[in-house]
Amino acid sequence: MEIVGSPAEMRARDLRAAGRVVGFVPTMGALHEGHLSLVRLARARADVVVVSVFVNPTQFGPSEDFESYPRDLEGDASLLAEAGCDVLFAPEAAAIYPAGFATVVHVQRLTRKMCGAFRPGHFDGVTTVVAKLLAIVRPDFAVFGQKDGQQAAVIERMAADLDTGVEIVRAPTVREADGLAMSSRNAYLTSEERADAPAIYAALDSARKLYEAGDTDADAALERIRGEIDARRTARTQYVAAVDASTLEDAAVLAPGVMLAVAVFVGETRLIDNIVLS
Ligand code: PAJ
Repeated sequence: MEIVGSPAEMRARDLRAAGRVVGFVPTMGALHEGHLSLVRLARARADVVVVSVFVNPTQFGPSEDFESYPRDLEGDASLLAEAGCDVLFAPEAAAIYPAGFATVVHVQRLTRKMCGAFRPGHFDGVTTVVAKLLAIVRPDFAVFGQKDGQQAAVIERMAADLDTGVEIVRAPTVREADGLAMSSRNAYLTSEERADAPAIYAALDSARKLYEAGDTDADAALERIRGEIDARRTARTQYVAAVDASTLEDAAVLAPGVMLAVAVFVGETRLIDNIVLS
């Protein structure tokens, strides 16, 4: 595996020469099984796999965890080599945002609700850095996790609207044995919080069971999810939403393709999760 730090050097690689298919997985590092499942999915479909590790400052709010976000480039590099990554792109912030940088990529409408309503500017940071990464790496496809369902929908919209020609692939959410979605932020949980956190997926799953039994009222499902999560001492829902998984339009009726999504504070740690009904 090669490690590249400079955008110019990355762009100069003619990875797609001779018709090779290039797959790309953008990450912020502190890699866990969730990230590695994306790398393996890319490996199965591509001739060349590129993974970026970049803790993107512009997607963190002023009171968020940019400074304390876990960083372990050496550990990440060995996990990536093992998972079949060919090129690790790990730029410095100054290489991505040099002096004079003045451009923002903004996706309208889809970014207004859910996480976008509580994290002002967050998705502008995400779409700006992902647009830049796609321009630097120039992959055939890029893989994003369903874990961040709104992010995946926003990036699909951006990639199509900007005619990037990059196929956006969604990969399923990888969970701990007790159902908790894997996240770098799970490491922040105390033991009591960690014991409450599986209630998030359990609540989504119990709403799914009611839907499968024929109850298609979205409001009733959302109320049930909120009630089950908030019954835990350390957990407090920030939002619960039922939306189309691609357009993020509100759904009044549960149906295939509807995403049930939540953001929850477990103690001081904000966790998100979702399921898509089938
Ligand atoms: P990060 O949080 O590091 O996540 C990188 C990718 O891994 C995202 O596509 C995310 O959805 C996926 N992922 C995280 N946990 C997962 C899990 N448990 N199961 C499946 N996939 C999972 O998301 C970002 O970084 C950034 O916003 C980024 C897109 C890199 C832009 O800076």
